[in-house]
Amino acid sequence: MRTLIQNGTVVTASDTQVADVWIEGETICAVASPALRAQLGQTDRVIEARGKYVIPGGIDAHTHLDMPFGGTVSADDFDTGTVAAAHGGTTTVIDFAIQQKGGSLKQALDAWHQRAEGKASTDYAFHMIATDLPPGQLSQMADIVAEGVTSFKLFMAYPGVLLLDDQSIFRAMLRAGELGALITMHAETGLPIDVIVERALAEGKTAPIYHALTRPEAAEATGTERAIALAEMAQVPVYIVHLSARRALERVMEARDRGLPAYAETCPQYLFLDEDALRGKPGDEFDGAKYVCTPPLRPKHHHEHLWRGLRNHDLQVVATDHCPFCMKGQKDLGRESFAKVPNGMPGVETRLHLLWEGVREKRISMNRFVEITATAPAKIFSLYPKKGTIAVGSDADVVVWDPHRSLRLSAENLHMRVDYAAYPDRTVVGAPELVLSRGQVLVEDGKWVGKKAGGRFLRRGTFAL
Ligand code: URP
Ligand code: ZN
Ligand code: ZN
Repeated sequence: MRTLIQNGTVVTASDTQVADVWIEGETICAVASPALRAQLGQTDRVIEARGKYVIPGGIDAHTHLDMPFGGTVSADDFDTGTVAAAHGGTTTVIDFAIQQKGGSLKQALDAWHQRAEGKASTDYAFHMIATDLPPGQLSQMADIVAEGVTSFKLFMAYPGVLLLDDQSIFRAMLRAGELGALITMHAETGLPIDVIVERALAEGKTAPIYHALTRPEAAEATGTERAIALAEMAQVPVYIVHLSARRALERVMEARDRGLPAYAETCPQYLFLDEDALRGKPGDEFDGAKYVCTPPLRPKHHHEHLWRGLRNHDLQVVATDHCPFCMKGQKDLGRESFAKVPNGMPGVETRLHLLWEGVREKRISMNRFVEITATAPAKIFSLYPKKGTIAVGSDADVVVWDPHRSLRLSAENLHMRVDYAAYPDRTVVGAPELVLSRGQVLVEDGKWVGKKAGGRFLRRGTFAL
């Protein structure tokens, strides 16, 4: 099957040009001037893209689908989560397998394959969250890398649940260095946070806003500094996930200025929402539970710093940390205590829409938009050039983006399986008109038209930057 996407403006991380994109089966076979069309022969299907942008399908490097967490399970599974992702122009997700304390890395990987296989409608890959690394498990890291899971997430937060001590983190970094794997870090210093939380609860401070007020920026700044210092000692690269705040960003900038291979992602919620959302609505302070995620939303002045970080390449990636919980039956587990609100927010569907607002407001260029949503995660997580760009030989994961299409980000217009919207009053301008995954149209004019469950597991290579 041959498909031609004609007359669109093809935008990659480096170039913007009017060009035809030719697809043979699952793969892009030519990107050529429309003047050469007659020479390139016949096609089975023509998609007109005049006046539209043709961009690589988004890669969301941070999702939690079907994840047991906070006494419940995240509300989207690999079916609903990847369908929602595709509606928003994301055609690859990198999700997290989680090692149970006392369990093995291999068991975790098997369990996540079971969750995803035959359910995912976009392609997917895994990171491995290691929570327990005695010598036997440390040696299993090699088996996990051999299975194409070449990045590990470690936690400095959530004591007793996910936190790893510094010696284990350091050993894991050394091993990752030997294996060519990448360590990614939840870099909040969690032990003091738990003391601050305990003290707040003892003072009767139980509302969602105290989630933000008990996880100070300093905890993230020191965690980020410590993660980078450990990586420097181990002589390995490090990737800071979900960076939310100015001082943490400054730690990354200092490291990069010294030439260290420190990378960081932020998320749309840290660019578009602020801690006041956790105060709830008048007469309903628990409404703020919708916005309980970790690290917490920060005061508004952080936004400018994060946008600058994106513009200046101090932040490389925008992922979502999509970890949705319904208000009813999930978030409300924390009605009596903010510390029991399951941590996480929906976002996998709205990342591109929101970041396009950054293009419209001239905070970032279109090329940078493509880079932070697709190309950079593909490069950092070793999916490039199969994923993350529009080039001959790349998978035909392509979005025809209509810069004039508007969408209100209300729950009824979205597909994430969660009973609220994080940005219900925001209308964005710029949205996918067509979303293709390996040459198959999944979404057209906001409607699902594709095959369900056609997503494939992506075995990733070792870290290559
Ligand atoms: O609130 C969040 N971020 N939930 C998911 C777990 C994590 O730390 O990424
Ligand atoms: Zn985290
Ligand atoms: Zn996360």
